[in-house]
Amino acid sequence: MKIQSIRGVKDILPEEIWKWQWIESIAHKIFSRYGFKEIRVPIFEDTRLFSRSIGETTDIVEKEMYTFQDRGGDSITLRPEGTASVVRAYIEHKMYAPPSVSKMFYIGPMFRYERPQAGRLRQFYQIGVEAMGSPSPAVDVEVMTMLIQFFRELGLKDSQLQINSLGNQNCRPQYREVLKTAIEKHLDNLCKNCINRYERNPLRVLDCKAEQCKEIAQSLPKMIDHLDETSEQHFAEVRALLDIAKTPYTINTNLVRGLDYYNMTAFEVTSENLGAQNAICGGGRYDTLVEELSGPSTPCFGFALGLERLVSLVPFEEELNNNPDIFIVCLGDVAKIPGFQAAHELRHAGFKVDRDYETGSMKSQMRKANKSNCRFTLIIGENEINSGKYILKNMTEGDQHEINSKSLSTEIALQINTINKPL
Ligand code: HAM
Repeated sequence: MKIQSIRGVKDILPEEIWKWQWIESIAHKIFSRYGFKEIRVPIFEDTRLFSRSIGETTDIVEKEMYTFQDRGGDSITLRPEGTASVVRAYIEHKMYAPPSVSKMFYIGPMFRYERPQAGRLRQFYQIGVEAMGSPSPAVDVEVMTMLIQFFRELGLKDSQLQINSLGNQNCRPQYREVLKTAIEKHLDNLCKNCINRYERNPLRVLDCKAEQCKEIAQSLPKMIDHLDETSEQHFAEVRALLDIAKTPYTINTNLVRGLDYYNMTAFEVTSENLGAQNAICGGGRYDTLVEELSGPSTPCFGFALGLERLVSLVPFEEELNNNPDIFIVCLGDVAKIPGFQAAHELRHAGFKVDRDYETGSMKSQMRKANKSNCRFTLIIGENEINSGKYILKNMTEGDQHEINSKSLSTEIALQINTINKPL
């Protein structure tokens, strides 16, 4: 029986992994400029961590978690997101007394039992960032501008930053009531999902994707018209700092996010080139979560982006693809040892080298060289061994050069430099 991968998950093959690694290396570079360090948290946690953090009435907790009982009878959940785990680790390791804000990022798989479609998987990867310990709007804006700088460095075009304010514990409860009353007038025309959940989670009606709800949502009261003074002031400072940083944004008054822990600033980055699942990234401020999970009062701000979606948008430069610099073609048994020696020497000198381990015909080995997408082929046969001159073929231009077998690495480095394509 042939066993296939499970619906909604996908392999990242060696041919494309360089794209992921490159994005991750840029993330490390940019995030470290802002003082963020990587954290690695477990892939599974106590189920209660997620239900308490994300919210009992959210789609994730109600319908999408991979929850199971382990052999000891404990309820375990494969993490649907990273924020809850980072907050758990922050409290567990008492990270709340650093000289300044605790800044962490993570890269790894998340699991949600959603209906798979383009851009929506059941195992997907996120890069996430959490800044913990300051209520300052400067943190919100630094984190958002860091993200935009990251996207710029990746060459990403056509992405839009949308922001909103969700208010705080002071003004949100009143707004929820105002919203509920307004929604009740439209109950006959809302989708089934919204009718079922509007009492428990009326804010989700605002960003429902069903056509009949979208139109109604436009007419509903907006959170930003019901902010208290602190939230209003915070949102004004966020906008002013975004302007100072020359970071373009739009205010989307219906942006509410699908997780319950947010307050004040919420944001998403979307792209028109993604189709229906158009969010590359989402995040915002969550000032009460640490306390709700029994830690000290710690205002936080963070985001997570979907790596599969990002990989589909970045215009990659093929040179970064990690293909071999040199492929060694050995003609006949006589070339076996010299081929082995050449590969050994060149790898030690820092070149990426691959080779054919068989000594098939020139044609079949050249086919393999071509398939490897190498930049150069080093050809070693009986004539080359006798004359002490191997042949270096430039696979893009097609021209060939003789290389002294006694000084392989230095001559190859020279050849490559003369055609002005440093490895
Ligand atoms: P989220 O909006 O649920 O936020 O997910 C963030 C991003 O993960 C989305 O914008 C999307 O790109 C990607 N994503 C989500 N679900 C899927 C899926 N099924 N398939 C593919 N990609 C997906 C969070 O997870 C929050 N923890 C973000 C955060 C961090 N807020 C504060 N700190």
